[in-house]
Amino acid sequence: MGRLDGKVAIVTGGAVGIGAAACIMMAKEGAKVAVTDIQDDEGRKVVAAIEKAGGAAGYWHLDVSSEQEVEAVYQDVARTFGSLTTIVANAGIAGTTDPTDSISVDDWEKVMAINVRGVFLCTKHAIKYLRDAGGGSIINLSSIYGIISAPDIPPYHASKGAVRLMTKTDALLYAEEGIRVNSVHPGYIWTPLVEDLGKSLGFTAEEFKKELGARHPVGSVGEPDDIAAGIVYLASDESKFVTGSELVIDGGYTAR
Ligand SMILES: NC(=O)c1ccc[n+]([C@@H]2O[C@H](COP(=O)([O-])OP(=O)(O)OC[C@H]3O[C@@H](n4cnc5c(N)ncnc54)[C@H](O)[C@@H]3O)[C@@H](O)[C@H]2O)c1
Repeated sequence: MGRLDGKVAIVTGGAVGIGAAACIMMAKEGAKVAVTDIQDDEGRKVVAAIEKAGGAAGYWHLDVSSEQEVEAVYQDVARTFGSLTTIVANAGIAGTTDPTDSISVDDWEKVMAINVRGVFLCTKHAIKYLRDAGGGSIINLSSIYGIISAPDIPPYHASKGAVRLMTKTDALLYAEEGIRVNSVHPGYIWTPLVEDLGKSLGFTAEEFKKELGARHPVGSVGEPDDIAAGIVYLASDESKFVTGSELVIDGGYTAR
């Protein structure tokens, strides 16, 4: 028996990093997983890995900033796998590293379109399916930077703060219908997003890993599976009494 037997999950940004790890771990626990992303080749590789391990998955191209695409993909996934039970709104970008007084409105809006509008659309269009399924679980990827801040990527911090409270509002709105909504708050996890951020700040991968590791009380950055494990818990019925909560998985970063 898998911990997610009978679940039908959509994961956004599932091609690499945390999203890919979540897809693989959820499928291993018995969920049927819709891997969605804008990196089609990478996404299809995740599906192939799941199928090779005996799991059930499919790939859909989905840009989370497009309402039309979110609606169409949800419909198609439900037709393919049955009523949706689980949404992992994981797609996100770090965005510009400029200070606030130099950020263009376009750069600001780009982060908001993916990190905030994307999460909004993923919940908006999920509700009717989760109602049909008699309940479900929405898991939104916020960050330690939805709780505390840092003087580096201003729109990102704003976006992750928004996701934290959007999660609580939706948890309250839909609690009576058995739809749970929780946010996950990773510390630094070594993924393409973090590696690219290091590059844009002028670090090599090794330098950035070391520099970031030192910021966490445990002495290192995390791995995608550290976050996937939390996502599996929130997706499973083990967390049936958990809604509106913030699951912090950060090597002690925010404990100071
Ligand atoms: N890695 C970290 O340290 C860390 C820490 C805290 C929070 N997070 C959050 O976790 C989530 C995943 O982060 P990650 O590090 O795995 O990132 P990543 O960049 O490694 O992967 C993100 C995925 O999202 C996809 N994506 C980007 N724009 C998209 C769009 N418009 N529509 C659909 N997919 C899109 C990318 O193609 C990529 O496959 C993000 O929301 C991120 O903000 C990451």
